[in-house]
Amino acid sequence: MLAVAVLAAGKGTRMKSALPKVLQPLAGATLVERVLASARTLAPERRILIVGHQAERVEAQLNHLDGLEFVLQQPQNGTGHAVQQLIAPLQSFTGELLVLNGDVPLLRAETIEQLVETHRNSGADVTLLTARLNDPTGYGRVFADDDGRVSAIVEHRDCTEEQRRNTLTNAGIYCFNWSKLLAVLPKLSTDNDQGELYLTDTVSMLERAMHVEVADADEVNGINNRRQLAQCETLLQQRLRDHWMDQGVTFVDPASCTLSESCRFGRDVVIEPQTHLRGVCSIGDNCRLGPGSLLEDSELAENVTVLHSVVRGAKVARDVAVGPFANLRPAADIGEGCRIGNFVEVKKSTLAAGTKVNHLSYIGDAELGTDVNVGAGTITANYDGVNKHRTVIGDRSKTGANSVLVAPVTIGADVTIGAGSTITKDVPNGSLALGRAKQWVKEGWNS
Ligand code: UD1
Ligand code: CA
Repeated sequence: MLAVAVLAAGKGTRMKSALPKVLQPLAGATLVERVLASARTLAPERRILIVGHQAERVEAQLNHLDGLEFVLQQPQNGTGHAVQQLIAPLQSFTGELLVLNGDVPLLRAETIEQLVETHRNSGADVTLLTARLNDPTGYGRVFADDDGRVSAIVEHRDCTEEQRRNTLTNAGIYCFNWSKLLAVLPKLSTDNDQGELYLTDTVSMLERAMHVEVADADEVNGINNRRQLAQCETLLQQRLRDHWMDQGVTFVDPASCTLSESCRFGRDVVIEPQTHLRGVCSIGDNCRLGPGSLLEDSELAENVTVLHSVVRGAKVARDVAVGPFANLRPAADIGEGCRIGNFVEVKKSTLAAGTKVNHLSYIGDAELGTDVNVGAGTITANYDGVNKHRTVIGDRSKTGANSVLVAPVTIGADVTIGAGSTITKDVPNGSLALGRAKQWVKEGWNS
């Protein structure tokens, strides 16, 4: 049997943030979500999150996860004290306890699987993950012999100058034999620089402690401050882009673009410089995104171009051109072959196939038919100061430049609206509507 416990109770003092450290985001997912995800493939019998600092906030963020147990550590007196909180909930548990630090978010599932397997095969009391770091500053140092047997872990701040030269560091990932750990857990002391109970001290109390060195040291980056957060973001972004390049996505200037984990791309998508995708995005074959675009929680079918634009919460059908400088807002639903041009904002509106909104328009709470031509500067006046109202425009209708459509209003099919009109009443199919002051000219005015 396997239980996984994630340590997520610490304050994260060094982040200097109002947000608990484990809730800091990295490529769209929080640190703790990433850590939990890295252990998913092991299908553990128990999954426990140790919470403490801002416990309610951490719980609220994660209680959608099935079968996750929350254990409270109050106050937070160190990583050993955190694991002591498991004594009651794991009273009748036998098997392995995998302990993961909540601030080590780049671990690969395979690495953890390997650690557990090595542990099971060797019969050690504990097997921990280590890394050789060029700069081990801040990490606990692991003292081990050539056979991989660990004698002690000493925290950076408790190390002598001599001990600090040891570059073998503790990743904060441990697979314990739970009953063996249980025997030594109550014996921890606060005899260290921080006056805390260190989980790392159990290693020298256990008879057989082993370590496994990770192949890619980047995986065990711990996040204690904003610089480390930024470094991890860079690494993670590189991983994501490399993955998608292997799947047939072109990045013109990879380092200038960012993705979230929940983005999906078809073949031959081209991502131009300074383009960012957040949340859940699905991008069809042959789309061209950017330069300079932001897409979030949006779905694009094949062959869509988005140039210098913002697309959020929108759905775009195939063969649509967006931008430059367009803003597609939530529930914008753009049909096949539509054209959304410069300085056009679309919110909560459906545009059927072939409709064009090319210049300087606001389309909100509207339903546009097929092949509608929205003239430059046309505005749907959807808000009366209290409520939002709908505008409907039928197939093949055209609005003249600078039209204001005061909602609620329904324009039929095959309608022409004269330029500069303010339309406040419904217009039947096939009509011409004009709502503006008649021009008059006084000749000889200045003579
Ligand atoms: C810890 C290890 C160190 C290792 C490093 C790897 C100890 C004593 N040291 O140091 O050897 O090299 O991780 O990144 O374990 N936490 C609690 N309750 C507490 C204190 C911490 O749940 O009372 C949680 C934190 O939220 C965090 C994790 O434990 O997710 C690690 O705590 P942190 O204070 O960051 O430990 P480090 O000093 O980085
Ligand atoms: Ca840490």
